[in-house]
Order: sequence, then structure tokens, then C-alpha cells
Amino acid sequence: MIDNLPGHWAIVGRGRLGTALAAALADAGLRVAGPLGRGADGAGADAVLLCVPDGEIAAAAAHIRPGTLVGHCSGALGLDVLGEREAFGLHPLMTVTAAGAEFAGAGCAVAGSTPAALAAAHALARCLGMRAVEIADQDRAAYHAAASVASNFLVTLEAAAEHLAATTGTGRDLLAPLVRATVENWAVQGATGAITGPIARGDEATVLRQRDAVAARAPDLLPVFDALADATRRLARPADVAPGMRTVRTVPQLRSALAGPRAAGRRIALVPTMGAFHAGHLSLIQRAREQADVVVVSLFVNPTQFRPGEDLASYPRDEARDAALAEDEGADVLFAPPVEEVYPDGFATQVRVTGPLTERLEGATRGPEHFHGVTTVVAKLFDMVGPHAAYFGAKDAQQAVVIRRMAGDLDLPVDIVTCPTVREPDGLAMSSRNAYLDPLDRERAVALRRGLDAAEASVAAGEREPARIAAAGRAAMAEFGVEPEYFEIVNSEDLSPLAAIDGEALVAVAARVGGARLIDNTTLRTPARVAAGPHEHERRETQCSV
Ligand code: PAJ
Repeated sequence: MIDNLPGHWAIVGRGRLGTALAAALADAGLRVAGPLGRGADGAGADAVLLCVPDGEIAAAAAHIRPGTLVGHCSGALGLDVLGEREAFGLHPLMTVTAAGAEFAGAGCAVAGSTPAALAAAHALARCLGMRAVEIADQDRAAYHAAASVASNFLVTLEAAAEHLAATTGTGRDLLAPLVRATVENWAVQGATGAITGPIARGDEATVLRQRDAVAARAPDLLPVFDALADATRRLARPADVAPGMRTVRTVPQLRSALAGPRAAGRRIALVPTMGAFHAGHLSLIQRAREQADVVVVSLFVNPTQFRPGEDLASYPRDEARDAALAEDEGADVLFAPPVEEVYPDGFATQVRVTGPLTERLEGATRGPEHFHGVTTVVAKLFDMVGPHAAYFGAKDAQQAVVIRRMAGDLDLPVDIVTCPTVREPDGLAMSSRNAYLDPLDRERAVALRRGLDAAEASVAAGEREPARIAAAGRAAMAEFGVEPEYFEIVNSEDLSPLAAIDGEALVAVAARVGGARLIDNTTLRTPARVAAGPHEHERRETQCSV
């Protein structure tokens, strides 16, 4: 007997593991019979080690003579599979190939139904040079999953890497030294010490380029790429709302990023955007940051709200810049999905607000389909994010009215917050489309604000008739050589035309200036008619309303 080990051993199972263990135990000086076939009864042995597939352990154990100590080598199963006898488990945490296995130095899960059986398992591991660890039955599945991830899944990952490398004419030999060094670093330093690369650096622009390449060359790998990128981000920033911003591209990633904070009862805010950030967008993020625990900014140039002939293709796009700006404002999550994530093949649903709200003003010029595209994507974003509040700019006043209507009509549990228009120093409302203005047109673009100023001035001077107020606005714009597509004074809640201004009114203007189509608006409020006086109107656009 070596240590606590019975003297005579039999190995049952002629597969790789049985063959390798029989050889290694014999080398270690034990008296070993086998590997034997699966029906062996262990005659002449004090102890039998079953090295058969999990599904065959119970049957193999039933053949073994009563009174013989029996063990199995399963990582997944407990000892109950061996029946009511004295039993042990020995699971070498090592891959065994046709060439055998190097057990020395490996870990080994051990278990025993009696102290003597457990001692035998320990001694067996020790004589093979393995480090024994006792794993309780209830921890088996988790232990085994960890082993699968560490070895089998790693192979799946490397196969994916190999597949991608093959599209560049390279192969496993190129990747193998990197893989070895990475695994070695992880073994010594742990994940946080070993993690490198664009995600760890927060270089999401590079990750996006990588993702595009995967989508083009190996689209089947995209879910794996996305899931791993997301898991890597979490690893690089472990807390549930960690400092720094995460970029996510798929709905499952988004939902998993928000699951923790939502379960913890945190308030989630959404700022929907199409990117090309300016101070207007940033003001919404700031407001959301002040009022919520988790700020999600969506960045998606929504194709369904562009009409044929509009600027979908040329719309300014610079995700890296936008991501940096959003992060600086304290956003937690940037949701930047590809088009197919929002509109997969076969997409056939629309959310429409019908009637005057979408047919007037912008609806009359661009068509109500523009707003149908907006409400469809915003409804989807609400569903994807599940925000408590969503932030919109007063700059797109009609859009805000339409979205408020949609949320009300559909009983969506989200507060719609409208924030004031942010302007350039000369009064031009900030807009991503201002980028289309050449220097001369940029100077003329202030015409819209000047038109609104003139309308306000005429109301301040006592004018109450919309046509005359609009005429004053148009005249002011004409001085810049700009003719509006529309210049209208409407009810600020339902956008219906007003016969006279009495209370609140929205003044909305749209005009083409050079290569850009611009819109702007202001909200006037005159006191009730009795009290109306020239200086009593006030601009409401400096308020933020829920
Ligand atoms: P986008 O034009 O990118 O605008 C995103 C948000 O920023 C909108 O709520 C808009 O009203 C607001 N915004 C734009 N300019 C602003 C300014 N100067 N001051 C304050 N807020 C301003 O609007 C859209 O995208 C899309 O239609 C969207 C709602 C994201 C749906 O696709």
C-alpha cells in the first residue's frame, strides 16, 4: 500500500483517459490491472477506477463485486451514480489526447463517500502529482462549467479567431504564440492584469471597424464577437454603473447592461439621437444626467424617417467623436446599433400618429411618413431601453408633440421631457445639418431666428393676428434673402391654426438656406385677453417641462 492506497487496482475503460491513467498509475508504482473492458467485475482488485463515459458509469459500477472500493472520473457527476457502496470521485482537470496526458501539476477534483474513500482519492491524486481539491456534489455543475469554459470554449474561441485569420491568408501558427502568452499572463496575473487591446483602452472606434470586418467576412461569428466584446467591456469596468461609458450594439447587450441597475431600482434616462453631436444634444445628456441614475444615449441615423431624396447618405456620422463627447457629459451607455439590429429582414411594423399632428408643418413639407419613421424608431427605443424618462429638444417642437402624443396614446410608462433650444451666439439654433452651410449661407441662416424675433416683437407690440405676425417674420427673413417654406403660428399642443393669439402659441418656421433645410421655433405666451399688454408675453423656451 502506498500512503492510504489499496494495493491492487483495476482500471475499467479503454478510452484515452483509462489508457493514460493506467499507464501513469503503473509508472507511479501501483499494481494496476487494465485498462479493462466495460463489463469487467474487478476480480482480484481492492479498488476499481471507472474511466467510462458518464452515461455508462452506473452500468459499469453494477458489474463490480460488492466490497470493492469503486471510483469514477466524471467531472459532472456526484457519487450517487455509483450506488450504495463505498465510493470516490477523481476528476483530473486535464485534457487527454491520443498522445496521453501530463497529469503532474494538474488540478484534480476529489470526493469520497467515507473518510477512507476520500483519503484514497487524495492519495491517488497525490501519487500522480496532481493538486487535489474537494468539490461538494452541489458545486459539481459549476465546477464542471468552469472547466468547460476554460478549455472547450477556449477552443471554440480560437477556432473563431482561426476562421477570421484565414480570410487574411494567415492561420493558427500566427495566432498560437499570442494565445500562449495571453493564457500565461492570465494564469499569473488574472483577467484584469492580462486584458489588453482596444476595448480595455476604450477605443470603440477600432472595435467598430473590427465588427464591420467580422460582419463582412464571417457574419456567423457576429453574435460571438458582440457577446465577447460586451463581456470584455464588463471585465474592463466591473461595477454595475461603473465610471466611464460602455458602447453596446445589440438589444440583448443593451438589456443586459441595464438589468442590474433596473433590478436595483435605479432611474434610467434615454436621450435618442442621430449623432453628429453639438451643444444641443449635449444639453439633453446633461439634463438626463442631473435627473437620472443611468443615462443611455442612443446613436442611430434612422433611415425610415428620411424621405427619398433627403440626406440619409450624407448625414454627418462620427461615432468616435460622439462617443467621446457623450462620455464627457457623463453618459453611462451608448447604444449604437447597426441598421439590421433595428430593422431586421422582414421588418413590417409601424407606429404612426395620424391626423393633423403629423400632417401639418413638417408633415406638409416632408410628408407624415417622416414622423411615422420617427415614432416607429422612438417606440422601439423605448421598448429596448425601458427608460423612466426620455429627453427631447424644443428645437424639434413638432417632433416632441408627436412623441408625447404617441407615449400618451400607447400608455407608455415614460416621462417625455422637453429641453430648451441651444443656440449659436448669433441665435442660429444648433443643428447637425448646420454642417451643410458654407460660410456665406451660415451668415444668412440667422434669418430664421430673426424672423422669430420679429414675430415676438410684433406680439410684444400688441399684434394678435397670426397672419400679420407671420408677415412680420417673413419680412425680417427676406432681409437675408431667405424665404421660408412655412412660417406658421399654431396651437402649441395640437398644432391647429390659430385665429388669434390668446394664451400660448407656437411659432414654427422652416427654410432652405444653401444646401441645408433648417427649422426653428419659439413659444409665445400672452396673458389672458383681458390682461393682455404689450410687454407681458414671455418666451417659454427656457423652461424644461415634464
Ligand atoms: P437628432 O436630430 O440627432 O436630435 C436628437 C435630439 O436633440 C432631439 O430631441 C432634438 O430635438 C434635440 N436637439 C437638436 N438640436 C437641438 C438644439 N439646438 N437644442 C436642443 N436640443 C436639440 O431628433 C432626432 O435626432 C431624431 O428624430 C430622433 C428623435 C433621434 C429619432 O430618430
